[in-house]
Order: sequence, then structure tokens, then C-alpha cells
Amino acid sequence: MSFPKEFLWGGATAANQCEGGWNVDGKGASTSDHLTGGTHTSPRRFTKVIEPNTYYPSHEAVDMYGHYKEDIKLFAEMGFKIYRMSINWTRIYPIGDEAEPNQKGVQYYREIFEELKKYNIEPLVTISHYEMPYGLTEKYNGWADRRVIDFYLNYCKTIFTEYKDLVKYWLTFNEINISLHSFGGYMGLGIMPKEDGPMMLFGKKETREEANIRFQALHHQFVASAKAVKLGHEINPNFMIGCMIAGSAAYPYSCNPNDVIEAQHRMQQANFLCGDVQVRGAYPHFAKRLFEEYGVELKMEPTDEQTLLEGKVDFYSFSYYMSGCASTDPELTKSAGNMMMGVSNPYLKASDWGWQIDPQGLRYYLNEIYGRYQIPVMVVENGLGANDVIAEDGKIHDDYRIDYLREHIKQMDEAIKDGVDLIGYTMWGCIDLVSASTGEMKKRYGFIYVDKDNDGNGTMNRMKKDSFDWYKKVIDTNGNNLD
Ligand code: BG6
Repeated sequence: MSFPKEFLWGGATAANQCEGGWNVDGKGASTSDHLTGGTHTSPRRFTKVIEPNTYYPSHEAVDMYGHYKEDIKLFAEMGFKIYRMSINWTRIYPIGDEAEPNQKGVQYYREIFEELKKYNIEPLVTISHYEMPYGLTEKYNGWADRRVIDFYLNYCKTIFTEYKDLVKYWLTFNEINISLHSFGGYMGLGIMPKEDGPMMLFGKKETREEANIRFQALHHQFVASAKAVKLGHEINPNFMIGCMIAGSAAYPYSCNPNDVIEAQHRMQQANFLCGDVQVRGAYPHFAKRLFEEYGVELKMEPTDEQTLLEGKVDFYSFSYYMSGCASTDPELTKSAGNMMMGVSNPYLKASDWGWQIDPQGLRYYLNEIYGRYQIPVMVVENGLGANDVIAEDGKIHDDYRIDYLREHIKQMDEAIKDGVDLIGYTMWGCIDLVSASTGEMKKRYGFIYVDKDNDGNGTMNRMKKDSFDWYKKVIDTNGNNLD
């Protein structure tokens, strides 16, 4: 295997999906705290007011707030070199527009970083992962308001300064490209939904005005990200600050030129648009036509172009779960996915949640990205959401997860051999946590099982799955033993 000696093996989580403690020690409500539980078939609901008898999975999640020492110890036992986590913005700025931070929140993350340091685990911190202060949603309509850029920068300044000697790797926004889709309006941008109701992932109709607001808000995030990169480098020139894109490999369904052009459009729109702005520092050539199609007229301040150019990221990170096919034939069967509703690929199998499993797509995507950007790349999410069952011997034999990960790691090895500068891999949901799309606990990704069910019942006890020892061996041998 070709993994470099310093390859960063590890796992990834997000605060709103694992931390809990949603209203303790001064923490304010996040946008994610207003999403109820759901399932594969019944969507999560957004509620403006927290309803007393409704289950909101982020409120307690898997209580990493109370268990972080135990959990980090388990990560260390697996040999993690890096741990991707996010800071809950509302622990630091509960409403979002305060001048001074909440000291208890600042102290909490300091303790986490010190705990990680004890085990030589490098933190990789997502500054905003599908949450922002609900206060900013209520008062400013989230990122739709340009003033939110300054609130975000104030938050960045606090955490960059407080943790400048404890954290080196940062990501400005999780899966920033989610906001190219209408469902990203609330999840990614904190734009207030018109009314309480189901959070539809796909099929939601949007007016031209709504699309305008969404793309404008995304532009504000780009500007904020660029300014954060610049600010971070001023505070500590050694910071490595990256973008984070939901990677969707799109294949033409057939060699019909219509399908080929359709696939190219998908690669451009879904992946390259945001990547180009954050890595190259400018909107790509195809953005103009895309905006015209949506009827979007972007408002740019005179300094924005320069700001984007000055805030190029140091590395490219992305999540990878699946690939999808593109076709102009409306009759073909669609496949499920986190951000991509492609056409089903007859050569691939899918997970229990319908996500198509395609390890080679990871190699393909890595080559596409590295060829385009030529900066270090990190896979910061990849994993299998499955319905784990406790066997008669009291253990969880998740060989299906091991198979999934093994095949993806093999393809990362191929990509490195192809010449890609891949510097790390953090498997998603290294400990079971709440699913972002469905709000379920049942969709488990972890090496570590957490005893909690979809309705919030359980002891919260942690238990190692078979994949725990397997991953320990993978890290120990730097990817050379994948058996
Ligand atoms: C990514 C998100 O899209 O996919 C994570 O960054 C999310 O937050 C992960 O949890 C897996 O998706 P899901 O819906 O299975 O939790």
C-alpha cells in the first residue's frame, strides 16, 4: 500500500449530531435544535417553537457533552491520528450577534482539544456543520443577510485566537454545496422556512425569489469563508484551512452525448462551482449561465472579487458516499442519496437506505479534484449507514461495514498511486450518532455502538463493534493490512 507515513487516519462527527446538552452551560438554540426526529420514510419536521412533547434528536443526541473523555479514549485506542469534529457555534455565541463569547462554551472545547492532545490526536475542526444560531435565523433570516458575515467572523476570531496553539486544521463550512439545492436553504444557510412542516430533501418547489435569496446567501458564505481563511492565517500562519464539499461523482448513464453533457453539467454544478470559488478564488465560467437559468441576479460588493481571491483555501476536503448516473431520459429509475438524486446504476448495489455503493467512484472523484486543483486533498467523510443488530453473543458483527471501508481504502490507495496528494481520511460517524437526513439513530455508521433508539430510549452505553478492532489494525499497519 502507498499511504504516506504521516497519513492522517481517523474519524469524523458533528456537534449537532453527537453532543447533546443543547441548552446547558449557556448554549443557545441552533437551527438543528428545531428539527424533530424522522425516519427513512417520514421526513423530519421543522418547528419554529420547541414543542414540549416532541422528540428533537439533537437535544440529547449521544451525549458526547457528558461522555467526551470516554469517547476520545476509545478513539485513541483505535490509534486515531486525527479527529474531525465541529464546534457548536451556539456554545460560543448563543444568539449569534453578541459581542462577547460564552466562556463556558470556550472552556468546553479547550478541554476537548487538551484531551485530544493527551493522546496525540490532531483535531480537524468544522466551524459550522449544519447548524448556526437560531437567533440569527430569527433576527436576520440567516445567511440571507450580509451582516451575518461579521457575526461569523467574530465567532472565527474567538475560536482561532483561543485555540491557536491547539488546533491546526479547520474547515469553514460543512458541505457548502448543499445550498445549491433548495433543501440547503435551512440546513446550510439558516434561512427561515415559511412555516412549520416537513423538511423535504427533494422535490420542493421554489419560487424565483426564493432561489435568488438562497444563492445570495451562499455568496455571503463564500465571502465569509474567504475572510475567515485570511483572518486565520493572520492569527496563526501555520493554520491549514480547507473547504468541505459533498462530493458527488456523476457518470453518464450511457454514451448518448445527451447523457454525457448532462453528467458534465452535474459535475460542474454539484461539485466544481463551490470548489472553484473556494480553491481558485473566483466563480467559474459556467456560473453565469447557471444563475440565468435560475433567474438569479447576484449582488456583489465591489470588494468581493478581491476578497474571494485573497481567501483561497489551503486544502480541499470532501465527503464521499456514493456515485450516481446522469441521463436526460425521464423514464429511468432514480436512486436515493444525500444530495444527489441520480439515475440508478445497474452495476452497483445500494445500502439499506438506497445509497449506491461505489468505491471506484472515490478514486474517480479524487483524480478529478486533484487534477483540477492541485492542492492537498482529504476525505473527511465516508462510511456506511446500516441497521446494526446485536447478535446472540452480545456483539455486533458488522462485516458489511468492514467490506465497505476496505474497498474504499483500496481505492484511495489506487488514487495515491495515480499521483493524488491525499493526506488523510476520517471515516464518518466513528461513533454512532443522529442521522442528519432522517434524524434516526437506527442509521448507524460507528465503530462504536451507542445504546439509544430512534425514540430516544437507551442507556447510552458505548460498545465496540467488530469494525473497531479492524480499523485499529488498519491504522496500526498504515493501511497495509485490510483483512
Ligand atoms: C453528510 C453530512 O452529508 O452525510 C453529515 O455532512 C451526515 O452530517 C452524513 O450525517 C451522513 O448522512 P446521514 O443522513 O446518513 O446522516
